Amino acid sequence: MEIMTDKANAAGTEDNIRPRLYEKIRELTEAAGRDLKACVVTFGCQMNERDSEKIRGTLRSAGYALTESEKEADLVIYNTCSVRENADVRVFGRLGYLHSLKDKKPALRIGLCGCMAQEERVREKIEKTYPFVDIMFGTHNISSLEGLLLKSLETGERAWDVRKEGSRIEEELPESRTYPFKSGVNITFGCNNFCTYCIVPYVRGREESRRAGDVLEEIRNLAAEGVTEVMLLGQNVNSYGDSEGMLTFPMLLKKVCEIDGIRRVRFMSSHPADLSDELIEVMGSEKKICPHIHLPVQSGSDRILKRMNRHYTKAHYIEITDKLRKAVPGIAITTDIIVGFPGETREDVDETIELVKRVRFDNAFTFVYSPRPGTPAADYPDQVPEDIVKKEFDRVLKCVQETARNEIKRHEGEVQEVLVEHLNEKDPSLVTGRLPDNTVVHFPGNESMIGQYLKVRLEKCEGFYYMGKREDDED
Ligand code: SAH
Ligand code: SF4
Ligand code: F3S
Repeated sequence: MEIMTDKANAAGTEDNIRPRLYEKIRELTEAAGRDLKACVVTFGCQMNERDSEKIRGTLRSAGYALTESEKEADLVIYNTCSVRENADVRVFGRLGYLHSLKDKKPALRIGLCGCMAQEERVREKIEKTYPFVDIMFGTHNISSLEGLLLKSLETGERAWDVRKEGSRIEEELPESRTYPFKSGVNITFGCNNFCTYCIVPYVRGREESRRAGDVLEEIRNLAAEGVTEVMLLGQNVNSYGDSEGMLTFPMLLKKVCEIDGIRRVRFMSSHPADLSDELIEVMGSEKKICPHIHLPVQSGSDRILKRMNRHYTKAHYIEITDKLRKAVPGIAITTDIIVGFPGETREDVDETIELVKRVRFDNAFTFVYSPRPGTPAADYPDQVPEDIVKKEFDRVLKCVQETARNEIKRHEGEVQEVLVEHLNEKDPSLVTGRLPDNTVVHFPGNESMIGQYLKVRLEKCEGFYYMGKREDDED
């Protein structure tokens, strides 16, 4: 993929971009007689969610009011995902809708960033078919947004700047967090695993670990702002390695647990090939680490795992999950499964189903294989016909749902601590929160409980969540 830097007019290369941008937005706000509004829509994974918080932070600092309504917005940015084709199709569909909004409101600015922006194929398509996209930047240069926005607002010209690899990890971007009490924290960027189906290494680049000092300082600052739960983020957190101090992921986890004010520590994702005994031990001994692991298995067939370039076997996966259950009583194990990988047979799917039953996942996100242009598996000759994939997918999904339902209800009747996250979306007399093992709980409550840790009796398991009742607070 080529580097696409629109140098000719890249306001981003000048020093006084920020004051000029802030001044420009002040002027436009005055002329409009109201706040300018920006809407950032996120597709994809937790990395994108976290990046969107930085994009929102940048826009808020510049003077925009944030909105969730694309219709109300003066600037809409789509932070996109390339992992499966349907994510991609959704974005193109919604761009069509934005075009119709722009027809009615020509001052509307439209931006596209994230993983799709890193794909040359996508940029070509946008250039040809969606020329009304004003701003584009990639996963390695969120900090270019200010310059690109300034250029677009000052000149009305297209402002695109997508970099191939980050020259350095971008520290110190402002942020606007979705929750005041919990936050994601990046520890690695990119991925070196090159699973044969996966586009992530191509759109996110080679794996880089942040310096442990930077990670810990960020978490200390978050704790000082009232954050009590952190989720350490990386495509494969187990391969974290601080470039300066040779700190491993379990060592980093221990240091995070030492930070005052942090009550819950989570992380995702873990790659089964790199999950160490040291990590299992630390998960067992550190009380702040939540009893949950998301450990994508992808398939239960050794033949398919090999073709996927996953570097472990079904037996190894079972061995590590057995160890985890022993070291961390009550641990919830969740996973990702792909059905319909090239060459997959009914017998391979039987192996996956057997694995689901053996490991007893609390949840398994099950995906239909989606060929991604540029990945090796997309060119394998033995692609599985759609009708067969659909049948096999239904078989796996049925097994996953049955297993998860039985597994999740093991806590029925218990009293556990819930971190309350928000009012229930359907019934405002209820609040919604999470157990340490990440299961969702709804119970009667009110807004004042948001951000608090409350003791809740788990009265009834309803499939993937609990209905509960608050117990008298014993703290
Ligand atoms: N880094 C994480 C996964 C990131 S992508 C890990 O390896 O654990 C999230 C999930 O999307 C993957 O676990 C996989 O199950 C699914 N996925 C990735 N590429 C896919 C593809 N081409 N088709 C279908 N599912 C895919
Ligand atoms: Fe993709 Fe594999 Fe990297 Fe996960 S580990 S992001 S599935 S290449
Ligand atoms: Fe999607 Fe990019 Fe995440 S491809 S899954 S948003 S790293």
